[in-house]
Amino acid sequence: YPKLFIFDLDGVITDTAEYHYLAWKQLAQSLGVTIDRQFNEKLKGISRMDSLEKILALKPELLTMSMEEKQQLATQKNEYYKTLINQITPKDILPGIEKLLKEIQENKIKIALGSASKNAPVVIDRLGLTNYFDYMVDAAKVKRGKPDPETFTVAADYFGFAYADCIGVEDSAAGIEAINRAGMFSVGIGDSEHLHEADYLVSDTSQLNMDKIIEKFASK
Ligand code: BG6
Ligand code: MG
Repeated sequence: YPKLFIFDLDGVITDTAEYHYLAWKQLAQSLGVTIDRQFNEKLKGISRMDSLEKILALKPELLTMSMEEKQQLATQKNEYYKTLINQITPKDILPGIEKLLKEIQENKIKIALGSASKNAPVVIDRLGLTNYFDYMVDAAKVKRGKPDPETFTVAADYFGFAYADCIGVEDSAAGIEAINRAGMFSVGIGDSEHLHEADYLVSDTSQLNMDKIIEKFASK
């Protein structure tokens, strides 16, 4: 029986993955770079600065930029993003998510948030979900972001649980890789083109069911 569920936030609990994309698209535009949804898959799950580096790499002359200029651009993107998340309400919780959180809590399994986003506590608060989480990983304190397993192992270590007793839920390829490398059971939300390494894959959050996840976890 699992002891801990670790949830990613953006694209799992609410559709802020879309807001990150729109904010990056706007920033990229101002640099004369165009990004599309296919490229955006590579930005999912990774830190703000790592995302910026990937965008700058699309135009070689931008790579010479100073660290200070990069910081400015990352801040600018975050300003766009904060405008978008200001509108979030509990109506923006993705289908099936609150029911799942409730069931996990009723079954006395712990719940953690394992997001790379420094905006995560604000978003969870705006959604009205803060009380479901027994622990939230502080993205600012994680030294190696996804696909490194650190985000997930930090959560398990907080409780002192064995990694094999933990389940991670993710919508990004980087996140699934992080969960697998941690030795945890990975649940992917999305398509097999990007998330084929997930132990268990569902197409969208409405397909998530606690008993089904635990059944798959137990048979691994
Ligand atoms: C992840 C998102 O959850 O958080 C990424 O999938 C994002 O797209 C990263 O870049 C960092 O978020 P923030 O809010 O700290 O810029
Ligand atoms: Mg995500």
